[in-house]
Amino acid sequence: MEQRKRSWAEPYKMKVVELIHMTTREEREAALKEAGYNTFLLKSKDVYIDLLTDSGTSAMSDRQWAGMMTGDEAYAGSENFYHLEAAVQKYYGYKYLVPTHQGRAAEHIISQLLIKQGDVVPGNMYFTTTRLHQELAGGTFVDVIIDEAHDPDSTHPFKGNVDLNKLQAVIDKYGASKIPYVALATAVNMAGGQPVSMQNLRELRELTAKHGIKVIHDMTRVAENAYFIKKREAGYADKPIGEIVLEICSYTDGATMSAKKDALVNIGGFLALNDWALFEKARNMVVVYEGLHTYGGMAGRDMEAVAIGITESVEENHIRARVEQVIYLGEKLIAMGVPVVHPIGGHGVFLNAKQILPHLTQDQFPAQALAAELYLDSGVRSMERGIVSAGRNKEGKNNYPKLELVRLTIPRRVYTQAHMDVVAESVQEVYENRSKITGLKMVYEPEYLRFFQARFDVL
Ligand SMILES: Cc1ncc(COP(=O)(O)O)c(C=O)c1O
Repeated sequence: MEQRKRSWAEPYKMKVVELIHMTTREEREAALKEAGYNTFLLKSKDVYIDLLTDSGTSAMSDRQWAGMMTGDEAYAGSENFYHLEAAVQKYYGYKYLVPTHQGRAAEHIISQLLIKQGDVVPGNMYFTTTRLHQELAGGTFVDVIIDEAHDPDSTHPFKGNVDLNKLQAVIDKYGASKIPYVALATAVNMAGGQPVSMQNLRELRELTAKHGIKVIHDMTRVAENAYFIKKREAGYADKPIGEIVLEICSYTDGATMSAKKDALVNIGGFLALNDWALFEKARNMVVVYEGLHTYGGMAGRDMEAVAIGITESVEENHIRARVEQVIYLGEKLIAMGVPVVHPIGGHGVFLNAKQILPHLTQDQFPAQALAAELYLDSGVRSMERGIVSAGRNKEGKNNYPKLELVRLTIPRRVYTQAHMDVVAESVQEVYENRSKITGLKMVYEPEYLRFFQARFDVL
């Protein structure tokens, strides 16, 4: 007998709600102009549905809020640090923990400790803050993700995979001694939230072990990656998400974590390591940049919320509802004929701005213009992931990424299916009127991570 489809639903109900503000088109026009056509510079009060990022925007559970009340705000040896340390050891399998205020602080520490001037750092697609810290430490990032990741229409089930031939070529060219580690991200953000397969991780471990090269894991969205492994990779359908997460981490030597994503908190992060000597150096360095090693950049209450959030992040019903909500929006847009990155990823739907606005050159910032237009239409805030985010190379020239995308990022446990419907209808409206969208020119460019603060004007 054919099995009937059973729907997913959110494994929680609402107890407190936050009222949101709706604006008129005139108000949005003024707000956008004032923000220099950069959605990062909009005031949140002027936003209706906020899909700028899934970072720090999750709704915490009542258990997490209750945990906040048990914050031990001692300068040294806070009880909450030990809870967090135990959660990292139990759920991720890493031995040693250095807490930080968020992910980029952990990236800073590991980059400064491991990268020497002239080193190369291969990785499965760049991430903005990660690559910047590698460069500031004197390294050069080399992309070794599979080619399919750069093709928005490829339906490869594991577009986050490392291309081991590309990695081998980097090792042959520079020598293992110039490669401090491979930067391995799970649920690769810039590729559209695309997962890495367990098979690929195993092979990566084998190759790097042969050459004595470390693997440092950007585990910001590891549970979302695990969900895709469970859904798509042979042998994992009946494995608990927690076990899959542990297996992923077991193929790596350490990790940087932005707890603001998977771990369902508004602030927090850490560096996790297995090597004691390296940990001792990191623990010493955190004192310089963040705070004592038993709080890093976090209050005790924040560490408690992260510890509880980690346990919630690997619950089957949670991760299923989280990723399936993203897929719900993606499939709706696909049915409307809107070009998006395939397959739909774990944390957001990525609109293919290059295909939607073929009349604009990449220098006219198509994704930035599309994000601005979507905001004008409905107050939905998204973000650019294209030439602006890609920044400049060491010679000061613009990088031209193959992907020119607008990211509709879904915060965890925040919006309903009706919100997703409203977003899809607005994207459809903008898509149908796409020929009228004009390009932008950049009128202010900051030195670092320009996408956050750059300002634009209409051409
Ligand atoms: C994949 C990835 N790595 C690292 C970071 C940096 O983390 P944070 O924003 O907490 O500094 C982020 C989020 O911005 C991310 O998405």
